[in-house]
Amino acid sequence: MTPEEFRAYGHQLIDWLADYRATVADRPVMAKTEPGEIGASLPSAPPIDPEPFGDVLKDLDRVVMPGLSHWQHPRFFGYFPANSLEAGVLGDIASTGLGVLGLAWQSSPAITEVEDVVLGWMRQMVGLSEAWSGVIQDTASTSTLVALITARERATNYGLSRGGLQAEQQPLVVYVSAQSHSSVDKAALLAGFGRENVRLVPCDEKYAMRPELLDAMIQEDVAKGWVPCAVVATTGTTATTAIDPVAAIAEVARRHAIWLHVDAAMAGSAMILPECRWMWAGIEGADSLVINAHKWLGAPFDCSLYYVRDPEHLVRVMSTNPSFLQTSADGRVKNLRDWGIPLGRRFRALKLWFVIREQGVSGLQARLRRDMANAKMLAGMVEATEGWHVLAPVVLQTVCVRYEAKGMSGAELDAHTKGWAEAVNRSGEAYVTPATIDGRWMVRVSVGSVTTEAEDVRAVWAVMRRFAEA
Ligand SMILES: Cc1ncc(COP(=O)(O)O)c(C=O)c1O
Repeated sequence: MTPEEFRAYGHQLIDWLADYRATVADRPVMAKTEPGEIGASLPSAPPIDPEPFGDVLKDLDRVVMPGLSHWQHPRFFGYFPANSLEAGVLGDIASTGLGVLGLAWQSSPAITEVEDVVLGWMRQMVGLSEAWSGVIQDTASTSTLVALITARERATNYGLSRGGLQAEQQPLVVYVSAQSHSSVDKAALLAGFGRENVRLVPCDEKYAMRPELLDAMIQEDVAKGWVPCAVVATTGTTATTAIDPVAAIAEVARRHAIWLHVDAAMAGSAMILPECRWMWAGIEGADSLVINAHKWLGAPFDCSLYYVRDPEHLVRVMSTNPSFLQTSADGRVKNLRDWGIPLGRRFRALKLWFVIREQGVSGLQARLRRDMANAKMLAGMVEATEGWHVLAPVVLQTVCVRYEAKGMSGAELDAHTKGWAEAVNRSGEAYVTPATIDGRWMVRVSVGSVTTEAEDVRAVWAVMRRFAEA
């Protein structure tokens, strides 16, 4: 492709994306394709000869579009907001277009230095002290894995340089809540702790971890001679956006000298609102934390912000220094390959840099406040309607609901709940996520797409009532 062809196709693609954004509200939210349909419409073997690139772009409409569920749709209330602000899209395109890699500071100094500055901005925006240093990882899953690996190494006095976990005399234990995201469990398993050494700390009636039970479980393990290693608290759990009491958990962690990692993947964005910071009060007592800028905040996926109190420990665990990566600048610069698992890194900071500058902190704050008000409005309408229940406190933008028709309970109620959620999604009018809480099915309505206004929230409520009460 010549530079001129690239320019022409690039303009065409941006036009296509701009049209998509302008008209996404007219599309059914959920893809209507059946499993296998998209794959079967494609040749099973690659083209031997070059194809006209115009034909490739046409397949975005012909092949790809029918297979999309539209996360940027104003009536997308599924999972969590994965906002992809236009400024961030342009930042991502710039990153890919430049095609530079950050293997070492010298391999493209701007990658490291812009990232450092943007992470410093975000640190200030969410009210963290200067004691924190940050790096961008791909996902919260990776950030939490890095946290648990570094916790393991601190507890074993850098055992990976000797016999690793296999040389430990007693098992190391990790504590999580029953409401922790599955990525936390997965990280603990991948970091080598073993299923039998991952303790589930029970939650209170608001689905928040009970610190006194954490303390009791740690004491029990210590009495057995086991080695408590780390606890993961969540600010904004996946099912209900429950808020673990970070200050009390930090105090338990401090007393037992164990690592505290805070998973604020979802709620971290809300910390740009001073009125929400109570949700992670005590955060300065944590060792590490993760905020997904690729969720509610609006940086396109993937952009997970990982902050630590002790970067030297992180670097000690993660560093690699083969001869071909050594430069004369080493010692004076950050080499971000030493701050996480992958060697190569792309210029992820660009999209967040663009988003913060284009929106301003005030623009980001205004949108999040709008979404929280809309969620409260929905909760109010649900609570005021016979047969409907809000099942968990609405502290952010997620509303967990169930419709309980008279006389319906148990398996019949579960089937009804899953059935109407499926009907809402199949209708294409809106998208919601069924999930379980306390062993029963409910429906999560996650407000917070960039284009979702109060009228969209009223609309999803009407659709839910239509299918649930039918
Ligand atoms: C609380 C919480 N933690 C972790 C994750 C996982 O995020 P990621 O997809 O970035 O690994 C999610 C996302 O759904 C989440 O809500």
